[in-house]
Amino acid sequence: MIQESELPEPEATRRDTDVTESSRASRGWWDRNADEYQRDHGAFLGDDRFVWGPEGLDEAHAALLGPAAELKGKDVLEIGAGAAQCSRWLAAQGARPVALDLSHRQLQHALRIGAEGLGLVQADAEALPFADASFDLACSAYGALPFVADPVQVLREVRRVLRPGGRFVFSVTHPIRWAFPDEPGPEGLSVAASYFDRTPYVEQDEQGRAVYVEHHRTIGDRVRDVVAAGFRLVDLVEPEWPAWNSQEWGGWSPLRGNLIPGTAIFVCVRDE
Ligand SMILES: C[S@@+](CC[C@H](N)C(=O)[O-])C[C@H]1O[C@@H](n2cnc3c(N)ncnc32)[C@H](O)[C@@H]1O
Repeated sequence: MIQESELPEPEATRRDTDVTESSRASRGWWDRNADEYQRDHGAFLGDDRFVWGPEGLDEAHAALLGPAAELKGKDVLEIGAGAAQCSRWLAAQGARPVALDLSHRQLQHALRIGAEGLGLVQADAEALPFADASFDLACSAYGALPFVADPVQVLREVRRVLRPGGRFVFSVTHPIRWAFPDEPGPEGLSVAASYFDRTPYVEQDEQGRAVYVEHHRTIGDRVRDVVAAGFRLVDLVEPEWPAWNSQEWGGWSPLRGNLIPGTAIFVCVRDE
């Protein structure tokens, strides 16, 4: 079997990419890189914590899904769940979580850590395999939305499977980060690209096939996407970098986190 380290380095570029290519690239990348992701970040995420992003904002304190005491008995869908750390925390509160992810290997890590009290589903967030109005709440910590070419389709799907009154909370890379190099040090503090350039970030192999994709939406685009899907936006949280967190995560670092936001969390409600 060919190891990832033996493959030629992919070329990083900005170019258009569609729904199919983005989805295929994400599935392949997360299947190949799930082991390394869990090795590098598993300790910070914790097996049964609910962390919204590299700042370390914890749902136990933030209560963006509502008071923890009210989660008991709730049907909750986690989108892009990875190893289902957030779902495990939800289960511990008495909720009934379903952890959904595109990547088989990420879900194998969920099984390795433990899937008691969880549903695990392998599917693409753009076509959710659930009946209408199946869930009370939905959440996503950096799952799916940064990687899909059609975020409105994902949001529409999430709205469809939520019951009226249901809430969807999702975090993504803060859009302002797209204007800066993705570096944790001082070189990551100078604007190097237009914030308004929505051209996706693509890593491609020697044949020009995408092997990793991220899609940029400005803050205004994200608000319009949420509204276009039929949600009401009730909060937009920009977690500040806390003094206790000395850990770097890719381009997220205490240095940059103290100056510019790194994560945006959208709190959305399906009214009817
Ligand atoms: C950055 S990880 C976040 C995982 C987890 N929420 C965490 O905080 O560690 C992104 C996850 O989204 C999943 N993902 C990417 N595109 C997806 C899609 N279209 N549908 C469902 N999951 C997707 C990936 O497989 C990966 O597990």
